[in-house]
Parts: sequence; C-alpha cells; structure tokens
Amino acid sequence: MATDKNDVKFVLSERDIPTKWYNIQADLRTPLPPPLHPGTGQPIGPQDLAPLFPMELIKQEVSQERWIEIPEEVRDVYKLWRPSPLYRARRLEKALGTPARIYYKYEGVSPAGSHKPNTAVAQAYYNKQEKVTRLSTETGAGQWGSALALACQLFGLQCKVYMVKVSYQQKPYRRIMMETWGAQVVPSPSPDTQAGKKVLQSDPESPGSLGIAISEAVEDAATRDDTKYSLGSVLNHVLMHQTVIGLEAKKQLEKAEDEADIVIGCAGGGSNFAGLSFPFAADKLSGKKKKVRIIAVEPSACPSLTKGKYVYDFGDTVGLTPLVKMHTLGHSFIPPALHAGGLRYHGMAPLVCKLYDEGVIEAVSAPQVATFQAALQFARAEGIIPAPESAHAIRVVIDEAARCKKEGKKRTILFNLSGHGHFDLGAYEAYLAGKLQDYEYPAEKIAEALRGVPKVKG
Ligand SMILES: Cc1ncc(COP(=O)(O)O)c(C=O)c1O
Repeated sequence: MATDKNDVKFVLSERDIPTKWYNIQADLRTPLPPPLHPGTGQPIGPQDLAPLFPMELIKQEVSQERWIEIPEEVRDVYKLWRPSPLYRARRLEKALGTPARIYYKYEGVSPAGSHKPNTAVAQAYYNKQEKVTRLSTETGAGQWGSALALACQLFGLQCKVYMVKVSYQQKPYRRIMMETWGAQVVPSPSPDTQAGKKVLQSDPESPGSLGIAISEAVEDAATRDDTKYSLGSVLNHVLMHQTVIGLEAKKQLEKAEDEADIVIGCAGGGSNFAGLSFPFAADKLSGKKKKVRIIAVEPSACPSLTKGKYVYDFGDTVGLTPLVKMHTLGHSFIPPALHAGGLRYHGMAPLVCKLYDEGVIEAVSAPQVATFQAALQFARAEGIIPAPESAHAIRVVIDEAARCKKEGKKRTILFNLSGHGHFDLGAYEAYLAGKLQDYEYPAEKIAEALRGVPKVKG
C-alpha cells in the first residue's frame, strides 16, 4: 500500500516478521578472534560451553552461515508484539527545526518494554528443546531479567535472576514484574553464591555491577544439573537474535521510500545497537551502501568502546567466563551508579568491537545530564518516555540533527528506541528536581582495573 507523505507510523503485518536471523559473522573481513579458556589460554570448544548453554545456541555462537532459520514457535511468540512500529519523528524534527528526517524503531512495545525479549524467547525455546528446566541470569536495569522471566513463563521454565543491587533498590517495580511472571529475584552481590559472598566480604555495601551479577548467574548454572545460563547481550547469538529489529526497519524504510544515512543505537553490551545496525552494516561491508554511518552511543562514565583497550578480558568480574577479545575497561571496574543501569558494563560485544576496530562503525559517549535533557526533549515532542539507556542514542540523534541544520543537509537518521522508561521515573524525578549529576570519567579506577586485565597475546 502506498504511503502518504504525512505518515508517522510505518507498520508491517505479522507475515512480515523475519523468517531468518542475520548472522554478520558470515560477512566479516576476517574471522572473530576466538574465545579463550581462562585456565589454559587456548581457544575453547563447544564442550567447554556445554555446562552453560544448550548445544543449538553454542552452534549459533560460532556459525558462519549468513542466515539462520527462526523456529515457528519463536515467531509465534514474536507475534505478540512484532513487527514493532517504525515512527517518523515529525514532531521532534519540527521542534529542532532540522532538515534531517528522523525515524525510530520502537522496541518498547514488547510486554517487557524493551528489545530484550527478542533473544529471551529464542533462548528459552532452545533450552526447552534440550530438556533444560531452569535458567539463571543477571539483570542490570531489570529489563533483561523481565524479558527472560516472561520467556521462561511462556515456555514453562523456572528462572532465577541476580539483579544488580543498585537497580534492585532503585526499581522495585521491575522486581515485581519479574515475580509476576514467576521468576525468583535476588539482589546481587548475594550470599547465594561463592562469587557473591566474596564480593560482600570485601565490600558489604557494594552497589553491585553487571560483571558481579554475571559471575553469580554463571556459578549458579555451572553448579546445578537442571540449570543453564542465559545472557542478555554481548554474545554473538544474542546479537544475531536481535537482527529482527534491523531487518524489519529496512522494509519499513522502503515503505517510507527512504534510506538511512546515519544509524544510531545506545550500547551497553551491544545487542540493541547490533540488532538495528548489523543489517545496515551488511550493506556497508558488501559495498552496496558504503557511506552509511553507524554510531554506537555509550555513557561517558562507562566508556568501554571510546576509552577501553581492545584486549582479551573476562566477561564477568570474578573471572569465571572465557576470555574474549573486546574493548574493556577492565573486568574489575565497577561503573558509577548511573541511572542507565543497562549500560553499566565494563566490556562490549566482541562483534561490535571488531567492527569498531575496523572502522565500520563509530562510537561516541554521552554524559548523563545531557542525555536526560535529550530524553525530555524527545518525550515532549513525541510523547514516548524513553528508557535512560535509549536516551543516549537520542542525545546523539539530536546532535546529528543539529549538525544537519548547520550544514543545511537533509540526511536520514534512524535510531533504535530500545525501550520505554516507565520504570525509570525515579531517574526522571531526580532530573526534574535538578538533582541528577554527571559523573567524572573515572580515569584512576579504570587505569587500575586495566592493570588487572590478564596478559594474553591477540
Ligand atoms: C532499554 C535498554 N536499552 C539498551 C540496553 C543496553 O543493552 P544492549 O547494549 O545489550 O542493548 C538495555 C539493557 O538493559 C536496556 O534495557
């Protein structure tokens, strides 16, 4: 159906939900450096990961196939909210007086309120197929925990969530949401694991971090036969499951008779950014659309891409996970208690890091207060109250739109509105009361944490 020049929403039918995920590993210029065993320093094999993940996900993690079939049962669950809408931010454009055309893909329409269920549903499905009965995981902002709690409920699995303590305290409603979907939630560091006990001994007041919570959830899965571990970001298969976002967005932009010049996403572990941008990065890698700019946005207080080192490091704090090559601030770095809890991670997805290292994508960092200024500008123009994580992307969208205005350029900007901020109103309250602060870039702490990164060639 033809689109009207004043259309605001570009929607697809359920039949347009992608049937395959896009695996960017097939199109990389050189293969991804392999994950290494933390003890031997040698590349790990599928058997090393088998205690933590079902075999099908391990296969996906290393697959070089460009397209991977999405099971019918997963697409059936996706129908509850997918295809998600693509919006043209006409009111924001007007408020900014920019010649840029701004589009956003809105993932806040999922039951959990973010993009996270796109992979949670797939992961719960494959675990169920392989007769796993319980999943353990960590959550920062509570978005990933809620997504997995929902997915486990839909596939009849038990779910234990280690929730970063500062978020547990800031966001009781996220916990209640997870419990409503049947999950068990504890604040991390917790006394339920050796990893948690160790942190509590050295710092009883620890606010927790994603790295610590990952250590706890991994230990939980590794020490129980009925349990596997589920990660909400960083891993190759997780990023791949999220590509439904970008694949749909491409079709929707076609409907709008437009093409993206700039693609923007916030990046914590990298999954929503990758989900939107990898199908566009494919065109850049193949030479079909070389000029598209792809920008990851991270918080200035936890700037793994822009200030981290590209070396092998642990994915968690305690050092239980394999070593992966990524931009890292050091696995022992505990980021300040930012309101964008989902962006408080010391590392970044290896696939995102590789593309950054090769200059396929760019990265910028945004401070907290300027991010909330952008969030309010967006909410007041477009209505939707963005998650603080997504607001990092909006900050850069507004900056790029201002640049278009200055240069008189009509560029098309596409970004991922990865979630709504309905459970983050405490942060909005702090901002509105003028109490929100910027954190200094924690240079000292990062330098110290980087000294603790294991020495591995690569
Ligand atoms: C709404 C939202 N956006 C972004 C993120 C960051 O994660 P990722 O970089 O994996 O997309 C989170 C993490 O919890 C989130 O909840």
